[in-house]
This record gives sequence, structure tokens and C-alpha cells, in this order.
Amino acid sequence: MTENTETTLVREHDLAEEHIAGGLALSRAANWNQNEADWRMMLRLGKGFGLSAADGTLVASIVLLPYGNAYAWMSMVLVSPGHRRLGYASRMLRRALAWLQSRAMVGVLDATPAGHEVYVQEGLRDTWGFQRYSLPAAPPLSGWQDVSGLELRQIADGDWPQILALDLPAFGASREPLLRALAARLPEAALLASRGGKICAYLLGRDGREARQLGPLVAADLVSAQALLSHALARVPGPWYMDIVDRHASLRSWALMQGFSVQRPFTRMVHGAQRAPGDNRNVMLVAGPELG
Ligand SMILES: CC(C)(COP(=O)(O)OP(=O)(O)OC[C@H]1O[C@@H](n2cnc3c(N)ncnc32)[C@H](O)[C@@H]1OP(=O)(O)O)[C@@H](O)C(=O)NCCC(=O)NCCS
Repeated sequence: MTENTETTLVREHDLAEEHIAGGLALSRAANWNQNEADWRMMLRLGKGFGLSAADGTLVASIVLLPYGNAYAWMSMVLVSPGHRRLGYASRMLRRALAWLQSRAMVGVLDATPAGHEVYVQEGLRDTWGFQRYSLPAAPPLSGWQDVSGLELRQIADGDWPQILALDLPAFGASREPLLRALAARLPEAALLASRGGKICAYLLGRDGREARQLGPLVAADLVSAQALLSHALARVPGPWYMDIVDRHASLRSWALMQGFSVQRPFTRMVHGAQRAPGDNRNVMLVAGPELG
């Protein structure tokens, strides 16, 4: 079959509830960690587009997650292994960029090395990077050492105003619905650190197909970041993934000391702006490439 014939045989459509199984098959085929709850959450919070073959099989996807009015995350760019290099990812991306442009929104995504090749050609530019660290189900080597003045506890309803105030300048866009959804996904990992009653760090996590993902972790300092992670690793069974921002070299060394190993790199890319939103000095762990 020629490229052109194949391309005309697929149908472009919005993603809805009935495409969740197909989306899951795509992410599983790419060895990604999303489970059904992730697909449900993303389609509830955002807008998905897909390409289906004549027999109804979903062969390509993209999901847009608007964060506030100015930015949207571009997520779940997936093409089934048997349909790659036919221009489907580029087509999905152009569909998403048109959707963003009609709303005057900037698009941001976290690219795998394979995706990076597609995105550069569609005009996205590199900003900063992070790496996925993984640890199989094994007890962490060292626990949380008490640091005087730092209080750790589970997030309660009344904490959200302070958490959102910490998150907004770090992430650079409002993502309250996502953060609240994650807190409900894995309450044991929904933790905060405070000093003198003032919240200085928070952590969220979620279940996944292969591992529990820890993140986002936004922290004013390394000590509170490590304290929250140690606390979470002691409470939440593995295996674990966490995506550490490259600039936080001390946290990366700490993760290696706990037994984590580096799995793969990601590059944060933007379309329609010079730089990625936010200030990553306090972003220790991103939420994950599909969420930002
Ligand atoms: C990355 C992925 C989405 C690309 O989908 P695709 O439909 O094959 O991409 P396209 O056909 O639109 O590619 C357009 C161009 O990008 C480049 N490109 C695409 N995939 C590439 C790869 N694996 N390596 C190098 N360049 C690549 C090529 O220049 C390609 O043009 P060409 O085929 O004429 O040479 C697909 O391989 C995939 O699903 N991979 C697993 C999941 C993943 O990594 N997704 C990206 C998330 S950020």
C-alpha cells in the first residue's frame, strides 16, 4: 500500500470514552506507563484527537490539556507500531496546533527522542530537560532522617490555596483540576512539608501500568524535597518512576544512592513562545511527560 492510499484510509475524529481501550493499546505498545485511569483523567480534563483505520482500530492519538487560558500540554502523541512513518504523528500535531492557535494558546510538550524529530519539523523549540528514574519493587536504602523544624503530613483540603500558590510560579500555569485529581489517585503519596506552618514543598503521585509515578514535586529546597520522597517511598509500594529535572544535580545523585537508575531522557519543547512557562528552580520532579 502506498503512503497516500494508506493516509486516505484513516478517519480523523475526536477522542471519547469509547476510544479509551484503543488509547490504552497504543500507550501499551509504546511501553508507556499510563493505565485506564490516566486516559480517563486526561480525556476528562482535556481534548483528544485520533485517527482510526477502516476497521475502527485507533492508530494514532494526541491529547491537549489546557492549563489556564494561556497554555496547553500536548500529550499522548502515539502511533501504532504498524502505522509509523506515514505522517500520522505530524498530522495529529498539526491538528492540535490549529486547535491551540484558534484559542491563542501556547503549546508545550515533553518529547521522547523519537517524538523530538517530529516536533522540530513542526516548529517546536527545545527548552530544558529531565530524565526518568526508575526503581523496581525493593525497599529504599535509607529512610527519612528527621530534620528539625520540618513537618511532613498528608495533604488536607484546607492546604490547597497554599499548594496552588507554591505551584503557580514554579509550573507557570494554573493546573488545579489536575493536582486535585492526582491527590485522589494516590492519597498515600499526596504529601506536604511545612516549616512554621508555611508549606515549603508538596508531592503527588499516581498509580500506573508498570510503576507508581511520583511527581509533581515542587519544593523550595532540597532538604524538604528529599524528606517528602523518603516519606513517600516508605509508604507507597514500588516499583516507582520519577522524572527529575536535569538542573537538580543533588537530587539526581540522591536518587542514584537510593538505588534508582536512569531510564530515558525527555526534552521540554514549546510552540508559540520563546521559553517554557514557569521557573524550574523549585520543580524537582515534573508530573510526567504526559502531564507537564
Ligand atoms: C514518535 C512517533 C509518534 C512518530 O510517529 P510517526 O507517525 O511515525 O511520525 P511521522 O510519520 O509523522 O514522522 C514525521 C517525520 O519525523 C521524523 N521521525 C519520525 N519518527 C522518527 C524516528 N523514530 N526517528 C527519527 N526520525 C523520526 C522523520 O523525519 C519523519 O519523516 P519521514 O518518515 O518522511 O522520514 C511514533 O514513532 C511513536 O508512537 N513512538 C512511540 C511513542 C513516542 O515516542 N511518542 C512521542 C511522544 S513525545
